[in-house]
Amino acid sequence: MTNTRKVHIKSYGCQMNVYDSHRMADTLASEGYVETKTVEDADLVILNTCHIREKAADKVYSELGRIRMLKQAAAQEGRAMTIAVAGCVAQAEGAEIIRRAPMVDVVVGPQNYHRLPDLLARAAKGSVVDTEFPVEDKFGALEAPTRDAIRARGVAAFVTIQEGCDKFCTFCVVPYTRGAEFSRPVAQIVADATRLAEAGVREICMLGQNVNAYHGEGPDGRPWNLAQLLARIAAIPGIARLRYTTSHPRDVDESLIAAHRDLPALMPQLHLPVQSGSDRILAAMNRKHTRADYLGVIARLRAARPDIAFTSDFIVGFPGETEQDFCDTLALIEEVGMSASFSFKYSERPGTPAAELGDQVPEDVKSERLQRLQALIMRHQDAFNAESVGRSFDVLFDRVGRFPGQIVGKTPYLQAVNVMGPPSLIGEVANVGIDGLGTNTLFGTLSAPVGDASSEVSFEQRKMQNSTSNSILVDAGA
Ligand code: 5AD
Ligand code: SF4
Repeated sequence: MTNTRKVHIKSYGCQMNVYDSHRMADTLASEGYVETKTVEDADLVILNTCHIREKAADKVYSELGRIRMLKQAAAQEGRAMTIAVAGCVAQAEGAEIIRRAPMVDVVVGPQNYHRLPDLLARAAKGSVVDTEFPVEDKFGALEAPTRDAIRARGVAAFVTIQEGCDKFCTFCVVPYTRGAEFSRPVAQIVADATRLAEAGVREICMLGQNVNAYHGEGPDGRPWNLAQLLARIAAIPGIARLRYTTSHPRDVDESLIAAHRDLPALMPQLHLPVQSGSDRILAAMNRKHTRADYLGVIARLRAARPDIAFTSDFIVGFPGETEQDFCDTLALIEEVGMSASFSFKYSERPGTPAAELGDQVPEDVKSERLQRLQALIMRHQDAFNAESVGRSFDVLFDRVGRFPGQIVGKTPYLQAVNVMGPPSLIGEVANVGIDGLGTNTLFGTLSAPVGDASSEVSFEQRKMQNSTSNSILVDAGA
C-alpha cells in the first residue's frame, strides 16, 4: 500500500476534458492518490487544458504562473509539488510548455493518460513529455471509477464513446490535437454504463468530438452506429435518460432520427452546431453542408420528435464574413428558434487553414457582431424558458436546494427546476408542474405529493433562493 498523496485536477474547456479528468483521478486512485479541491495542499496538480480558442490556451500560462508560486512555497516547507499539464494544449505545444514554464514536470497528451503513473515516476528524474498517439487502447488501460467516486459525481454521468475528428473544419484545432476519429467498442461502453447504473447513475451523456460519427465494434463483430448503441444503453436497468454531444449535421442519419422517435429515454434536446447561417461561410469553413441541409435535418428531427429543442454553436467574424453573411446567421437563429446556444468570436489558431486566409475581420467588428448575436440567442432562450411556465415536465432530481426542504433537478431540456420535496427523490424522476421563472432557473410543484412534503413556501421566497447554476449546454467539439 502506497502513501496517500493528494491530487488536484483543474479542467478547462469541453465535457470531454471533465470526463478525462475523472478517468485520470480513477487511475491515480489506484496509485494511492486522493482528490483535493484545494490546490495549495496538493502533492500533484494537473491542469487539463483546452486549445480550442486563443483565450482558452492563454489561461494555462497565467494559471501556471500562480502555481509556480505555490510550488515554491511548498518547497520552502520541504514538500514537493508535482505539476502536470494535460489536455489539448499539452498535445499542441508539447515541450514548448516546459520551455515557457520550466517548473512543469509532466506534459501529457489526451491519448496518453493511462501512462500517467509511469510518467510521474519518471518525472522524479526530470521533466517528461508524452504526446504520442499510441496504438494501445487508452480506455481499456484506464482504471474504472469506484462506486464511491461514481456516487460523489452525481446522478448524471458522461461516457466518452468516440474521440477525434475527421471533418477538418478550417477554423478548428481538434483534428490536430485529438487526432483521427476513434470509436470505442460497444462492449466497453456497455460495461462502463452498467457500472454507472449499478452505482445509481440515471442519466448518461455520450461524449465525442463528433459523436454521431460513432462506428464502434458491436458484439456481432460488425460496426454499430450511434442509434444502435443508444438503443443498447437505453436497455440497461436504471438508465432513465440518454443524451449525446457533440454532433455534426452531416452525420445525422435516418437511424438516428428514428432513435429520437422510438427511444423514450433519449431526451428531446439536441446540440447541433451549425457555426454560420451563410452558405459562403459554411463552404469556407469546410463544414460540408449548406444552410438548407441543416434546416432539412432540423425539419426531419422535428417530424420524428415534435417536442425536440435545438441548441447550437456559432462563430462570428470568420475570415471574409460580411454583414450580409452575419445577417444570414441571425436569420437562421430566428428560423430555427434555438433554446440556447454558445457563440464565439473567431479565434485564429496556428496551423489551421483559416489562419492562412486573408480578409481577417477586425476585432471591433467581431465584438459588435457577437453582442448582437448573443442578444438574439438570449431572447430565444428567455422565450423558451417563459414558455415552460404552465407546462409540466419529468424532472430528474440531482441535489438538495439551498433552501430547507428544497430539491433541484433538471427538465428534459436541462433547465434547472427548484421544487419543495423530500431528498429521497434525488436520483428519481418525478413529474413537476412549472409555476415560476427565475433568472436562471424554473420553479415548480410536484404533480403527485410525495410523503409529507408540501409546498409551504411562497413563490417569492423560493425566488430569493434562485440558484444560478443552470448549465444548459456543454462546450465540446463538432
Ligand atoms: N474560433 C472560435 N470558435 C471556435 N470553435 C472551434 N474553433 C474555434 C475557433 N478557432 C467553436 C466552434 C465549436 C466550439 C466547440 O468551439 O463553434 O463548435
Ligand atoms: Fe471536427 Fe467539430 Fe472541429 Fe469541425 S468544429 S473539425 S466537426 S471538432
